[in-house]
Amino acid sequence: MLRAGEIPIVEDGLSELVKNGLASGNLEFVLGAAHAAKDCEFAFLCVPTPEGEDGQADLRYVEQAAKELAPVMPHESVVINKSTVPVGSTRVVERVMKRPDVRVVSNPEFLREGSAVHDFLHPDRVVVGADDQTAALRVAALYENINAPVVVTDASSAETIKYAANAFLATKISFVNAIAAICEGVGADVRDVMRGIGYDRRIGNEFLRPGPGWGGSCFPKDTLALLKIAERADYRFDLLQGVVEVNLQQFDRMASRISQAAGEGGTVAVWGLTFKALTDDLRDSPSLEIIDRLIAKGHSIRAYDPTVAKSLRGYPAVVVCDSEIAACEKSDVLAILTEWENFRWVDPSDVIHHVASRHVVDTRNLLDRSAWRTAGFTYQGVGR
Ligand code: UGA
Repeated sequence: MLRAGEIPIVEDGLSELVKNGLASGNLEFVLGAAHAAKDCEFAFLCVPTPEGEDGQADLRYVEQAAKELAPVMPHESVVINKSTVPVGSTRVVERVMKRPDVRVVSNPEFLREGSAVHDFLHPDRVVVGADDQTAALRVAALYENINAPVVVTDASSAETIKYAANAFLATKISFVNAIAAICEGVGADVRDVMRGIGYDRRIGNEFLRPGPGWGGSCFPKDTLALLKIAERADYRFDLLQGVVEVNLQQFDRMASRISQAAGEGGTVAVWGLTFKALTDDLRDSPSLEIIDRLIAKGHSIRAYDPTVAKSLRGYPAVVVCDSEIAACEKSDVLAILTEWENFRWVDPSDVIHHVASRHVVDTRNLLDRSAWRTAGFTYQGVGR
């Protein structure tokens, strides 16, 4: 598929980038790390590091790639680790390769799914870490056409930067979700509260959107991995533990809100299954966390997501529908779980004749609540 320029995931701009690379001859796909790295000056390791036992990152794929590269890397070449790996893993790669003449450099990535191509070409910063500063500078030079500050540091600091960045962002969102709960209790609107604090440049106005809780293939795995790293470093990271707990609390709070609106055994129409919009990734999706809780409470689920056409693996009881309206058929509540832009533009008067009861729980504060209320629905958002 890749050789034919077909990209099997939803990622804005990636298909064009790959097609252009293939057409110009600058990009080629081959099988096997050794085949790809033969005669190269730089080899990037971009393999997954899934959650292993007790939350620690599983380094199996990193080690396997390092083993394959060891016999073929030219003298004085550089292996660049882009995978998210526990602090000290640069040394693991060095140990596995047993090639003291090949340098290993850490160069973590900060790409978001859905805007990965843009984030790569316009990064906020580039981080390069190595104990051999000459090797670090050689890697930094690869980015010379990219306009961004470059942080050159040692390998352990570069690896720590990656975890600290993701944990900090997760902390921001859990904080916002906690403030949203308080807003509901005191009659404030979290959106205005976040605008009010976001203009403070020390806080910044990004990553302040309340929601169903954070998910995806990075934050859940990386926060747990950092808790493990902290444990090994003999530090009780109660703050991060709290961030993870607030997130679980948010899944529970949103599931209870939807369940109550649906009534006992009621049918829930779900709009949005992916962990955020502009991706087809269902890994650790907050939507699935909430669906799990709703099924446990005895609800039936009808779901629609623009990127999920077939049935949901592992969820035989969830009926996957082919439109927003079809998902609402005879439902007792409509739950908005992912912030797909199309949902915003569905006319409530088109939905009204299909539902059994008129209730909306909007965990992304996406819909125009006055339009839905005017159409006769009860509407609950988050933190408003
Ligand atoms: C995240 C980081 O943002 C990237 O910088 C990092 O490179 C990447 O992980 C990684 O480690 O590979 P990503 O997992 O694609 O990127 O997703 P985000 O856009 O960060 O969103 C994560 C979750 O937080 C989603 O469930 C999203 O809906 C939620 N979120 C995000 C909110 O609830 N509120 C916000 O304001 C922002």
